[in-house]
Amino acid sequence: MYSGWNQAGGAAATTAAAIAVREVSHAFPAAGGEPVLALDGVSFEVPRGQFLALVGASGCGKTTILNMAAGLVRPLAGEVRVAGQRVCEPRRDTGYMFARDGLLPWRCAQDNVEVGLEIRGVPARERSRRALQLLELVGLAGFARALPRQLSQGMRQRVAIARTLAIDPSTLLMDEPFAALDAQTREILQEELLGLMQRPDERKTVVFITHSIDEAILLGDRVAVMTPRPGRIKEMLDMPFGWPRDVNAVRADPHFAELRNHIWNGLRPARLDAAAAFAAAGE
Ligand SMILES: Nc1ncnc2c1ncn2[C@@H]1O[C@H](COP(=O)(O)OP(=O)(O)OP(=O)(O)O)[C@@H](O)[C@H]1O
Ligand SMILES: [Mg+2]
Repeated sequence: MYSGWNQAGGAAATTAAAIAVREVSHAFPAAGGEPVLALDGVSFEVPRGQFLALVGASGCGKTTILNMAAGLVRPLAGEVRVAGQRVCEPRRDTGYMFARDGLLPWRCAQDNVEVGLEIRGVPARERSRRALQLLELVGLAGFARALPRQLSQGMRQRVAIARTLAIDPSTLLMDEPFAALDAQTREILQEELLGLMQRPDERKTVVFITHSIDEAILLGDRVAVMTPRPGRIKEMLDMPFGWPRDVNAVRADPHFAELRNHIWNGLRPARLDAAAAFAAAGE
């Protein structure tokens, strides 16, 4: 039985929190009906340099939380703060990455990585230096001039990682960034992301959404488990694996299987509800 390392709810007030989500509720208008309550009183904090993995059933409001932290959606109630400031619009210190790589098809890998730097008016030489450095970091040194259609899905996602890192964000919001990848490429990119997180000078504050429980445990300092819609934080779990983190060592650790079962069981009612609703709809 999983014994629980720390299930404090994650709302311990720290002034150093890089991201603070406080009592956030949100509803979306529904066509011709009652508004859909997507989030209901969500609170958590992410200290600077920490990696928070967020798991929960489809539709529980994970992306909505990230959109709020990115300044794309305003909460109906409560607030989201980044670096102590209430988020009202997109911030320069925040990078956002999705499952779709969103690369511009007419631009080569290097030019895609440079997009954010161009918008910020960084001079061409500096842009080029930084883009090539980042492409090397993500294992694409020889592909600077390749167009997205000449790259595999995994390579394109690497370009997207480099593009997100190019603006040197202190906060990284990642919405299922590896969901579209095959299992093997996904594991490779997980290890690469861990490698990036291991560099003390590069350590970012990260909120990472995933449907993979293994991925959440492997990458997270903490894992937040959400309830089905309306989303609330059901549990905030400290991962007992330190840094530097070795993927194989974590997988072999007995705590890994315990945590996996624990989180899986925590999400179980949502899965069963979804299955029952599907079955009922078919009757
Ligand atoms: N722009 C919108 N208009 C109306 N309803 C929305 C909108 N965006 C989200 N919703 C609703 O809010 C709820 C939460 O959506 P959200 O995309 O945040 O869920 P999620 O946890 O990211 O799901 P998934 O795991 O499938 O990506 C869902 O019921 C969704 O239908
Ligand atoms: Mg989502």
